[in-house]
Amino acid sequence: MRPTRRTFCAGLAAVPFLRPGAASAAPLVPLTARHATVQLAPEGYPATPVWSYDGTLPGPLLRAAQGSRLSRRLVNALEVPTSVHWHGIRIDNAMDGVSGLTQAAVPPGGSFDYAFDLPDAGTYWYHAHTNSMEQVARGLYGALIVDEADPPEVDRDEVLVLDDVLLDPETGRIAEGFDNPMMRSHAGRLGNLLCVNGRFDLSLAARRHDRLRLRLVNAANARIFVLRLEGMSGWTVALDGMPLAQPVPASGDIVLAPAQRVDLIVDVTAEAGAPAALVHRAGDGSWRALVEVAVSARGTSAARSAPPPLPPNPRMTVPGADSAEPREMRMQGGAMRGMESARHQGQLLDFAALIARGQFWSLAGQAGRGDDPFARYERGETARIRLVNDTAFAHAMHLHGMHFRTLLPDGTQGAMRDTVLMAPDEVTEIAFVANNPGKWLMHCHMLGHAASGMTSWIEVA
Ligand code: C2O
Ligand code: CU
Repeated sequence: MRPTRRTFCAGLAAVPFLRPGAASAAPLVPLTARHATVQLAPEGYPATPVWSYDGTLPGPLLRAAQGSRLSRRLVNALEVPTSVHWHGIRIDNAMDGVSGLTQAAVPPGGSFDYAFDLPDAGTYWYHAHTNSMEQVARGLYGALIVDEADPPEVDRDEVLVLDDVLLDPETGRIAEGFDNPMMRSHAGRLGNLLCVNGRFDLSLAARRHDRLRLRLVNAANARIFVLRLEGMSGWTVALDGMPLAQPVPASGDIVLAPAQRVDLIVDVTAEAGAPAALVHRAGDGSWRALVEVAVSARGTSAARSAPPPLPPNPRMTVPGADSAEPREMRMQGGAMRGMESARHQGQLLDFAALIARGQFWSLAGQAGRGDDPFARYERGETARIRLVNDTAFAHAMHLHGMHFRTLLPDGTQGAMRDTVLMAPDEVTEIAFVANNPGKWLMHCHMLGHAASGMTSWIEVA
């Protein structure tokens, strides 16, 4: 069609207005959930087909400045629906990535635009939050680092994403059986190959007296890592992204439950050529290297004094916790203890009936996310939850959207974090300011437990 003068002029006039509009509507940087094949097992074993972000395991390291915005277009090139959760970010509820609660799952071939503010500096991570039990185990996770304006002085900043993969040694494939009742009702899906940044033999090079910031992320499905420093000495400076008021010497065991993070500042103390490593306690009680550090002598620097604390993030206090009324969330079920009954999909069922529906666990008498939240809070209210682990297993309880503090028996508050590990029979009180409106999941981060009952939610008005 020949343009009339009128349409031509209209088109011309629209140009200056279209340009800025067109620029802001430009597609976001994609983050593609897709198949990939990676060499996880030692040379000689077959390579492993995984589900990945952008073809790597872990997915790409996302890094941005505190106070900036992060945006990514999730493109789903898998055959199953998926979504991305930005674990530990005090995020807009609509961007939290929980399919069925904060968004619809993204269908195969579909996409979803995530864009959100980053209020807090620290070590965070992202992972699938649709059928997470399987999707995270297949590789859909990566680290997300938010940088302080004024980061501490270190020679190197290393992100170490820990995983525990269950491989079929014959084929090199990720073992199936994600709904295995044995795993779900016990400690969860434990693997047979530990890897860090997708490598079973990761090694770092450093000089004597180098100061390293190690950012550890536990992306494993259920493994609780017990770690120590060998040939290095250091301090814990942040937990779950949030700075500690004072660095704490990391001289004993560093326990990292699924989804937890720890930021360490460590000095290499080993002589050149002497062993230095991040070691973990294996099943037989022996300590084995998880990440080796090859120490060379080139450094001329001398030992340094303790690092100062990291600059605090905003909104790190929880006032009014003492006077807040605690609500009890009893954790029940699992092998050895079981439970009498729980509500599931609107029905009160006994343990046998729950098991028949693949539900082994309950939170506050509810197996799986119910229609009603565990609690509703006014915006700005201080919330207090008494978690009672009435099971024979450990659980890593995670709250979305807000960090909490544990209330210690001496009346003080523990570190601010988003995931707390609870031993069998332990009682832990947590408190947080319910200042982030929306629907927030609260669940065990042993993903097989979450998938078989240990998932609840709260609502902040
Ligand atoms: Cu990493 Cu529902 O969380
Ligand atoms: Cu659990």
